[in-house]
Amino acid sequence: MDIKPGYVAVITGAGGGVGGAVAAALAEKGCALALVDISAEGLAKTAGSLPSNAGKVTQHIVDVTSKEAMQTLRDEVLAAHGGVNILINNAGITLQKSFSTHSLKDWERMVGINLWGVIYGCHFFDEALGQAEAAHVVNLSSMSSFLGLPGQSSYCATKAGVQLLSDSLWAEWGLRGIGVTSIHPGAIRTNMIMATLEESDDVEQAKKNFEMAHKTGVDPEYVAGKIIRGIEKNRKRVKVGKDAHLFHIIMRFFPRLGDVILKKISKKLAE
Ligand SMILES: NC(=O)c1ccc[n+]([C@@H]2O[C@H](COP(=O)([O-])OP(=O)(O)OC[C@H]3O[C@@H](n4cnc5c(N)ncnc54)[C@H](O)[C@@H]3O)[C@@H](O)[C@H]2O)c1
Repeated sequence: MDIKPGYVAVITGAGGGVGGAVAAALAEKGCALALVDISAEGLAKTAGSLPSNAGKVTQHIVDVTSKEAMQTLRDEVLAAHGGVNILINNAGITLQKSFSTHSLKDWERMVGINLWGVIYGCHFFDEALGQAEAAHVVNLSSMSSFLGLPGQSSYCATKAGVQLLSDSLWAEWGLRGIGVTSIHPGAIRTNMIMATLEESDDVEQAKKNFEMAHKTGVDPEYVAGKIIRGIEKNRKRVKVGKDAHLFHIIMRFFPRLGDVILKKISKKLAE
């Protein structure tokens, strides 16, 4: 769809990283924004750095794992903006720990943010998106939906869930004129790993992963550009970064090679 000035975009996880960059890119196009995050500080920072041609901007301190808070968010957004054209379900976290050291609370938190957050977003904005003159949903998955990375079972499981939820919505909602895109980036230069660093099995290894992501990854602004293009071109799936493209090809066309690589990573993590 054409992203027109005045269109309303709801962005979860807008307090930094990819969410902050998407907010800036949509503001550049004159969109009105409902910025959503659990961090008031992050929201204020994003809102304070938007380009001047942004439409109306509202800030919403919301935990996406809360059904009640997400329902209230929908009501607040409709009251403030009158409708919704673009929904970006972006809030997400990672946990760098083995399955055996995941507590059930860890799983509930991961599924709560990475999967339920996306389900609530789609559920509560369903009707409003259907009433808009043009509408598009973007769900942040990851290249981790293509491969079961050792040490990241909850991340991979939730991101694969987001991918297939998006595929179903793409088929269902396409008939109603609502575009749906899942985004699959590889490493991005954000603070995602640092946000849960202390909870990692191996903090030193997690720090190395963070440094590697910053060395080899793409900038959040680059991901935001791909998201905007994904909306404009109505893409079903968008892979971002050389690593995401490479792993997609390996797991699809050379799965045995992929298995060898995954076993090697697993062995290295166990050393
Ligand atoms: N960073 C990467 O390498 C990478 C790679 C692939 C996919 N992704 C995905 O991109 C998305 C954005 O990640 P990022 O790298 O910008 O991370 P980030 O940590 O920089 O930003 C995530 C934002 O989500 C917010 N958030 C966390 N829990 C929340 C909750 N319960 N409710 C509301 N907001 C909450 C945080 O406060 C933060 O502002 C995530 O879904 C992530 O899984 C990231």
